[in-house]
Amino acid sequence: MKAALQAIQQQATQELEQIHDAKELENYRVKYLGKKGEVTAILKQMGKLSPEERPIIGQLANQVREEIEAMIARKGEALKAELLEQQLLAEKLDVTMPGARRPLGKKHPLTQVLDEIKEIFLGMGFDVAQGPEVETDYYNFEALNIPKGHPARDTQDTFYISDNVVLRTQTSSMQIRTMEQKKPPIRVIAPGRVYRSDAVDATHSPLFHQVEGLVVDKGVTMSDLKGTLEIVAKRLFGEDVKVRFRPHHFNFTEPSAEMDIMCFHCQGEGCRLCKGEGWIEILGCGMVHPNVLSICGIDPEEYSGFAFGMGLERLVMRRFNIDDLRLFYENDLRFLDQF
Ligand code: DAH
Repeated sequence: MKAALQAIQQQATQELEQIHDAKELENYRVKYLGKKGEVTAILKQMGKLSPEERPIIGQLANQVREEIEAMIARKGEALKAELLEQQLLAEKLDVTMPGARRPLGKKHPLTQVLDEIKEIFLGMGFDVAQGPEVETDYYNFEALNIPKGHPARDTQDTFYISDNVVLRTQTSSMQIRTMEQKKPPIRVIAPGRVYRSDAVDATHSPLFHQVEGLVVDKGVTMSDLKGTLEIVAKRLFGEDVKVRFRPHHFNFTEPSAEMDIMCFHCQGEGCRLCKGEGWIEILGCGMVHPNVLSICGIDPEEYSGFAFGMGLERLVMRRFNIDDLRLFYENDLRFLDQF
């Protein structure tokens, strides 16, 4: 029995080397110390021994059992430490590695140029106003001296919501809203979306943007209009830019004009960009019609004013040499990334 116990201890010591995880260790414990284990089997046979042998073998068996228990405990600790080490290794972070870069967003080209325009006008003492895109017939047409049935309405391709409510076709509606709320002196620009029932192509979109301007005060003249807009053109397109005013017609201004800038591509020679004209139209303008002042409760005998309206998309297309307006609305990052 003594030899058997010694053999068990030796075998147990060797076998411990082969154990690699907690489950194997548990099987090992059962094999030696469990109810049907090898050491337990020996202890069960103690009854057959003589009274002299019993304490000697008993002591040895206990020793072997304690020794195996201690080995199991040590191995258990070692396995735990090994597991922790593996986990730490797997979760290891190199904090000196550069982080994943997030691409930085940019302002849309329309917003970039609009911000520039706002900056220019703020510097000249203008306020920036905003108004509704769903507008009544009164603000979009009637109060702008465009009565029902007037042919000027036909050119606007209006989206009607009801007989009296439209999607505004021009930011000029903001002239009326501004003059209703404020008394002169007035200096304001009103940028925003406008809508026209146009089929989409390279130069047309049912939604586009305008920037309206309005100045009303005592003694405002056409030369104020020309001087102001010339400065704006220079700020936007460079000091060398040449401008010209051509007579035009708008119902809400008298006299009315359109302002052109000399084509910066061909310097007036005529090229593809300006369609051979040498000049590029950038806005409509004029002296506020006395009827419009009156309807807003401003006495045209005492006050005068000028107004202008420009299409933002065309301006931005000219600034960046973009030939298709649809690019502004598709939000293709390959396009937007260039600005
Ligand atoms: N509202 C006009 C349009 O959409 C543009 C315009 C012309 C605005 C002359 C004005 C102006 O303020 O004075 O075609």
